[in-house]
Amino acid sequence: MRRLPDQGRGSLAVSVSGRQGAGRVSAGALPGSSVVNGGALTAPAGGASVPADGPQRRSGGAVLFEHIAIVGATGAVGREFLHLLGGRGLGDRRVTPLASGRSAGSVVEVAGRAVAVAELREDSFEGVDLAFFSAGSAVSRRFAPAAVEAGAVVVDNSSAFRMEPHVPLVVPEINPHAARGHRGIVANPNCSTIILAVAVWPLHRACRVRRMVVSTYQAASGAGAAAMAELQSQARDVLAGRTPHPRVLPFPIAFNLFCHDSPIDETGYNTEEVKMVDETRKIFGEPSLAITATCVRVPVLRAHSESINLTFERPVHADEARAVLEAAPGLRVVDSRDPQHFPMPIEASGVDPVLVGRIRQDLSRPDGCGLELFVCGDQLRKGAALNAVQIAEWLERQA
Ligand SMILES: NC(=O)c1ccc[n+]([C@@H]2O[C@H](COP(=O)([O-])OP(=O)(O)OC[C@H]3O[C@@H](n4cnc5c(N)ncnc54)[C@H](OP(=O)(O)O)[C@@H]3O)[C@@H](O)[C@H]2O)c1
Repeated sequence: MRRLPDQGRGSLAVSVSGRQGAGRVSAGALPGSSVVNGGALTAPAGGASVPADGPQRRSGGAVLFEHIAIVGATGAVGREFLHLLGGRGLGDRRVTPLASGRSAGSVVEVAGRAVAVAELREDSFEGVDLAFFSAGSAVSRRFAPAAVEAGAVVVDNSSAFRMEPHVPLVVPEINPHAARGHRGIVANPNCSTIILAVAVWPLHRACRVRRMVVSTYQAASGAGAAAMAELQSQARDVLAGRTPHPRVLPFPIAFNLFCHDSPIDETGYNTEEVKMVDETRKIFGEPSLAITATCVRVPVLRAHSESINLTFERPVHADEARAVLEAAPGLRVVDSRDPQHFPMPIEASGVDPVLVGRIRQDLSRPDGCGLELFVCGDQLRKGAALNAVQIAEWLERQA
């Protein structure tokens, strides 16, 4: 991003020649990351548009983010960023992958180019226009200010800044305009929160949700690349008659499930559940919306699932809800009763949309004000990297 002398952040641009995104990338390094669609995103609530396949170049071919750093490039989310960049028309940008000293010198692929990973340091952001952070909260707290100081816009995947009042917490289908007020950092919401919010927001806009009750079934990869590998190795151990020994996750994950592995607070809720409540309220701009969540880790490699019970202000028929969801951006309705075909993590993996189905009346509410849904979303993609890239694309289109 080249600063023009008399312009501030948000009005900066340089001209480069580059090709438009093709919308498809080749097989990914992580299981389930090989199928990439171009996205099914159309005009979201609030009037902004989310492009179907990447950034729209301004008329002169101008781009805002010429040099992109990926912090945590060797991790589960970081690798997803690297896959996405080429597929969304960003593969021609200069990309600097950063990780810890453990990975420095290793090579990653960016849109067909081999690029060496560098060690993250305070001075890593010289000339960087946009920095995607996905290396944990401690790394974000320590290094994001240095990136901002160097002139970069940070889109942060950690929880470090999400609830700070001046930091926008953005899901582009819902509140893209919040990103406009950033002071250098835009926060990407928690992965389970994004998947929930994309599905519930259109119904909330159309019919006003009064209360939501969510139960999650969260994939091992939500705890990082090492947890994903642990599920694979434990499955081999169990099938071979060996006792699995947890190292990354607190309990055996193969052929088991357990309360989400985040700390439990004094209320008995775990941190993941608290994030879903607090972050959804912030994204929706509804500070007192009634939400409760139970978050569970399940032996799925990739893509989180969520059972969602909604109570509305008025009776809402399942057909009305289905029509709203079919027209909403970022969603694909998968809701066939005969033959039975509903959202599954295996079909949500590696694709952009959140899958939504099991759309049915809550029979415990004779007043017709209750609905049940089941959703699956790729938490590495829409729950992390894709949402962050969409935020950057939106900022670039506004510049
Ligand atoms: N996994 C998900 O589904 C998901 C979804 C949404 C948000 N997030 C968030 O995204 C972040 C990363 O998650 P992940 O699942 O990708 O974790 P991960 O697979 O464990 O990857 C962690 C990445 O951070 C790097 N890293 C760790 N310590 C570092 C340090 N001191 N300096 C520089 N780099 C360091 C690692 O580099 P090395 O290879 O050098 O160790 C690696 O690239 C977390 O904040 C997480 O909460 C994750």
